[in-house]
Amino acid sequence: MIDEMSTTEKKSIEITKGINGLDKVVLREINGSTAEVYLYGGHVTSWKNEHGEELLFVSNKAIFKPPKAIRGGIPLCFPQFSNIGPLEAHGFARNRVWTIDLDPPPFPSNTTNRVYVDLLLKPTEDDLKSWPHSFEYRLRVTLGPAGDLMLTSRIRNTNTDGKPFTFTFAYHTYFSVSDISEVRVEGLETLDYLDNMNNRERYTEQGDAITFESEVDRIYLSTPTKIAILDHEKKRTFVIRKDGLPDAVVWNPWDKKAKSMADFGDEEYKHMLCVEAAAIEKPITLKPGEEWKVRQELSAVPSSYCSGQLDPNKVLQSS
Ligand code: BG6
Repeated sequence: MIDEMSTTEKKSIEITKGINGLDKVVLREINGSTAEVYLYGGHVTSWKNEHGEELLFVSNKAIFKPPKAIRGGIPLCFPQFSNIGPLEAHGFARNRVWTIDLDPPPFPSNTTNRVYVDLLLKPTEDDLKSWPHSFEYRLRVTLGPAGDLMLTSRIRNTNTDGKPFTFTFAYHTYFSVSDISEVRVEGLETLDYLDNMNNRERYTEQGDAITFESEVDRIYLSTPTKIAILDHEKKRTFVIRKDGLPDAVVWNPWDKKAKSMADFGDEEYKHMLCVEAAAIEKPITLKPGEEWKVRQELSAVPSSYCSGQLDPNKVLQSS
């Protein structure tokens, strides 16, 4: 789980109890940044920078109790995104209890000097009744030395009946923003999207960056590997880098929908934005023995965009 642990360097991994006694793992990096992952849902519920500032949104009304998925953080949508299919909305991975994987198959990439935890989900007997496929879903949550948060998913078809299976997927990340009206999303301009608010009809994004003045619920297609969320008021830019995830869902429920959600405060839509690295339009099919591997990496950098000094494209072009 951790390559080198030194208490003097304050880099550590701790398994402890969270809200309602649910197990959670706390990752700490030398620079002071932290992340928290609940085994319930394999769900990242906190990501803080070196100043202790929370970068993810979690609702004050979030219910940390099965079977409700935690409202906020990074729910994992698997094996189904939203209601596109016969399963419960967003699939069942987000409301199952995952285990810590003490002996995961090795990663080819070098993770030396990073703090990480490996989690594992396999279907229960009940899951097999609604989705009759054996799988192993391995999630690695890594905190980098600069406080970057990386989530790697490895999903393997372990069916012994010779059958392939097909699924859709999303990292349903809720970012914390100061004021949704002051936020811009860069990197999705001119792309096609399916509008979840209009029977997933296909449209083409016009204009500049995406800004928010009402409910938005869209699946952008064939998106670039880098997307930026610019928060003017906080002078902060989130950069999402993704591998193997062509789509990006952008969601803010706005006031009316917020009021209809029991686990979400009426005014909280002002302080959150979901940008979800996803594979939806072209579902993934795995034959027995095949594995699908994807990742998203999040970083939060100071931005001076609000003063007009920074070309938003530079944020996307820089590495
Ligand atoms: C988004 C969907 O990903 O998740 C929205 O695009 C949905 O349509 C939202 O409302 C929240 O879903 P849930 O199941 O967590 O309430």
